[in-house]
Amino acid sequence: MTTAVTIPTHGGTGGATAVAARARQVVKAYGSGETRVVALDSVDVDIARGRFTAIMGPSGSGKSTLMHCLAGLDTVTGGQIFLDETEITGLKDKKLTQLRRDRIGFIFQAFNLLPTLSAIENITLPMDIAGRRPDADWLRRVVDTVGLSERLGHRPNELSGGQQQRVAVARALAARP
Ligand SMILES: Nc1ncnc2c1ncn2[C@@H]1O[C@H](COP(=O)(O)OP(=O)(O)OP(=O)(O)O)[C@@H](O)[C@H]1O
Ligand SMILES: [Mg+2]
Repeated sequence: MTTAVTIPTHGGTGGATAVAARARQVVKAYGSGETRVVALDSVDVDIARGRFTAIMGPSGSGKSTLMHCLAGLDTVTGGQIFLDETEITGLKDKKLTQLRRDRIGFIFQAFNLLPTLSAIENITLPMDIAGRRPDADWLRRVVDTVGLSERLGHRPNELSGGQQQRVAVARALAARP
């Protein structure tokens, strides 16, 4: 099947292939022996660029595991993951860190905000670590879009659950991945 693809024009760092991410025969097993869990059992999937894709399934069926593997946040037990044309399975740590930082925005199921930092500090933390200056206009747009401009000085425990998750959304978008 061929599908029409709209390449986003937001100036992100992604490439121009129709498929943004691919999994090929991906296996992910946790633990060993009696407690071994095969969370992903030979998964093949293509994630189209410029579209929203929903992964659905019962609790514990491996959705988060698949996302973590596709984003290079976790290693696979077998198979291959490609981002654009780059195979990320087998990449050295340094390269993988760089690729994750520049090309991927990830919103965790559990927000993973740093409790001692304010909302805005959490949002810009990945860029601060990378020594990059945020694009001020873009950052303002992201913050306005998620509706957090009145709460930027607040720490996570001073925010509602939804506000915390919106901080995580803004953090994922801040570097225009
Ligand atoms: N670190 C781990 N160690 C051992 N088993 C794990 C680990 N992480 C996940 N699992 C197991 O792998 C399976 C898939 O988990 P995963 O978190 O991917 O599910 P999910 O589809 O995201 O579920 P939910 O909808 O509840 O978020 C589950 O059976 C889970 O118990
Ligand atoms: Mg999950």
